[in-house]
Amino acid sequence: MRMNSLLRESIAETIVKREMLVFPVFVVKGSGIRREIPSMPGIFQFSPDVLIPEMQSWIDLGITRFLLFGAGEEKTLNAHRACSADSIVNIAVQRIKNIYGTKVFIITDVCLCAYTSHGHCGMVDGEMIVNDTSVELLANMALSHAKAGADMVAPSDMMDGRIGKIREALDGEGFSDLPIMSYSVKYASAYYGPFRDAADSAPGFGDRRTYQMDPRNGREALREALLDEKEGADILMVKPALAYLDVLSQLRKVTNLPLACYNVSAEYSMVKAGAMKGWIDEERIVMENFTAFARAGADIIISYHSLEAIKNHWL
Ligand code: PBG
Ligand code: ZN
Repeated sequence: MRMNSLLRESIAETIVKREMLVFPVFVVKGSGIRREIPSMPGIFQFSPDVLIPEMQSWIDLGITRFLLFGAGEEKTLNAHRACSADSIVNIAVQRIKNIYGTKVFIITDVCLCAYTSHGHCGMVDGEMIVNDTSVELLANMALSHAKAGADMVAPSDMMDGRIGKIREALDGEGFSDLPIMSYSVKYASAYYGPFRDAADSAPGFGDRRTYQMDPRNGREALREALLDEKEGADILMVKPALAYLDVLSQLRKVTNLPLACYNVSAEYSMVKAGAMKGWIDEERIVMENFTAFARAGADIIISYHSLEAIKNHWL
């Protein structure tokens, strides 16, 4: 049955559509800024004034789904800039939605690590993460994004109980239609290295192993994800993607919610480095990876390669 290419096309089980792709964007405070991230060639930090026209060119290419991260804000112990109505993310969201309206779908990352002086994803007491205080702040942060006009919020902090609290906060202020995409299964991973340069969010002490998951645990991932579903998550995410496809495919079997996977920074950088050396065929590698994500169960693929893939008509 593999002899005839027309038949091969007929019976191909997995198709990746461009509508599945989300492109992460780093918005940085300031003006006139278009700064390439050294460890992520082709990926830039933009100030809002530069981002707006850039986004028009992306929309023209058919890239319309974005995940926004804020960088360059003042970092304090209580992360007060995270929840501020005029945080860089909120300013960017307002401008984007004012200009592009429903032509774009804007997801905002909800986490405190770019706003805390110590770089952890929640409040700390000494060296201990304080779960419940962090959850209050995260709910406020998500609410501020909703008020700015975000189409969906995506908490990436890994505190316990935050989905329920965010849902409650949104519902309480008239945002009961706003979906939550939860980073349900987020591993403590070395694959986030380049991102921490981009978002300037590396922890100042210790690591994230007291709140992000242990890569050795698979069953725990299902527990985490099903808790988020119970708390009201609308989409569940597994992150990173490539090394955790087993988790994604197991999760596909135990929930009927849509699933997302995050093809993270180092997964991008490794492919880029190989391609720049001329050692691998970038298009084929990227499309093979995207296909594997979809085959394992992903409905949504968040990837730094989204832009190039769509621009170059890889799909
Ligand atoms: C912040 C956050 C991280 C990523 C997304 N949101 C980094 C981290 O947890 O350290 C990783 C994204 C990537 O590596 O591309 N909580
Ligand atoms: Zn974080």
